[in-house]
Amino acid sequence: MLDSEGLRVAVVGYGYWGGNHVRVLNGRPDITVTVVDESEERRHAATQRHRGVRTAACLDDAIDDIDAVVVATPPMTHAKLALTALHAGRHVLVEKPLATSSAEAEEMVAQARKAGTVLMTGHTFEYNSAVGKLKEIVSSGTLGRVLYIDAARLSLGRYQPDVDVVWDLAPHDISILSFLLDELPSDVSVWKQRSIGSGFADVAYLRMNFARAATHAVVHLSWLDPCKVRRVTVVGDQRMAVYNDLSDNERIRIYDTGVDVHATEAGGRARTMPVTYRSGDIVSPYLYFHEPLQAQDDHFIECVRSGSRPRTPGERGLEILRVLEAADAAADSGRAEAVRDAVAVG
Ligand SMILES: NC(=O)c1ccc[n+]([C@@H]2O[C@H](COP(=O)([O-])OP(=O)(O)OC[C@H]3O[C@@H](n4cnc5c(N)ncnc54)[C@H](O)[C@@H]3O)[C@@H](O)[C@H]2O)c1
Repeated sequence: MLDSEGLRVAVVGYGYWGGNHVRVLNGRPDITVTVVDESEERRHAATQRHRGVRTAACLDDAIDDIDAVVVATPPMTHAKLALTALHAGRHVLVEKPLATSSAEAEEMVAQARKAGTVLMTGHTFEYNSAVGKLKEIVSSGTLGRVLYIDAARLSLGRYQPDVDVVWDLAPHDISILSFLLDELPSDVSVWKQRSIGSGFADVAYLRMNFARAATHAVVHLSWLDPCKVRRVTVVGDQRMAVYNDLSDNERIRIYDTGVDVHATEAGGRARTMPVTYRSGDIVSPYLYFHEPLQAQDDHFIECVRSGSRPRTPGERGLEILRVLEAADAAADSGRAEAVRDAVAVG
């Protein structure tokens, strides 16, 4: 690393999301960014938009002049690019999903351990202050026992060429849910279909059971929905919380709402439902806004500099892939499939 250049970071893939990495990293005075993209047009666009960035057509051309790599290319390319960087002893942040199989991810994790370099997964929502607040709320017991969680990630979305809607969008929700509950789902079932064309599924529902929390979650994912929705609803037996990532000023609302059940006479059938409804205040906690991608990339740089372990290391990306693989198996078998336990790698 040269002092005048600060830390030298290559962002591989200057597409929709890589452009955001370049913006946040190039905004830091202590970082020199090299944009690596196989498309000349994309490289040209990067030099027009960001002052002082360097460019390269492939990672091999840049590898000798960088300290760290951010991989923001389509998922099928993640493992090869990350392994190239790890074998060269570079620190790596890989966008979600970490790879397209757990076997690839195990190799990446093992190589990072061997090389003593940082391998981090871009689970951006774990750096989102609203998700952090929701975790605090769930963990504090404010909601009571979590009865179920409902999540939805919908829009007229970007059809991906190499993965289906589950592999594209579910990494976010699996990471959010397992972060909130401090455990991975024990099993997954799925319904999914391709609604238009003949490629990968574009709409899906996942159902996941969380054994320790004795609760479950349903996740609706779609690239084919007229409304953009980014929502997680946690229903507790005392209160309920809704996290709406699209809200400007009330990303979390806690509803002091619920339904109390009364015992029916002698266990008999009542003429009306034996319940009473509770409706109380709706509270929206103050949330400091820090762009989650900036927080995530700052954390990566901090880990590279200090040698500390990231909050979302390669192992975390591997865990999420195991849930995605269980979802694939469930789609094939038509029933719930267990998530493979995390095992030591390498
Ligand atoms: N964390 C998030 O919130 C978030 C949001 C969107 C996308 N993503 C992830 O970011 C990644 C990129 O998605 P996108 O929508 O920006 O894709 P994209 O298709 O818009 O861009 C990909 C870019 O990578 C380039 N590229 C492909 N292979 C390459 C290679 N081998 N070497 C150099 N350049 C190469 C392409 O030319 C293109 O410019 C995906 O893994 C996606 O899942 C994450």
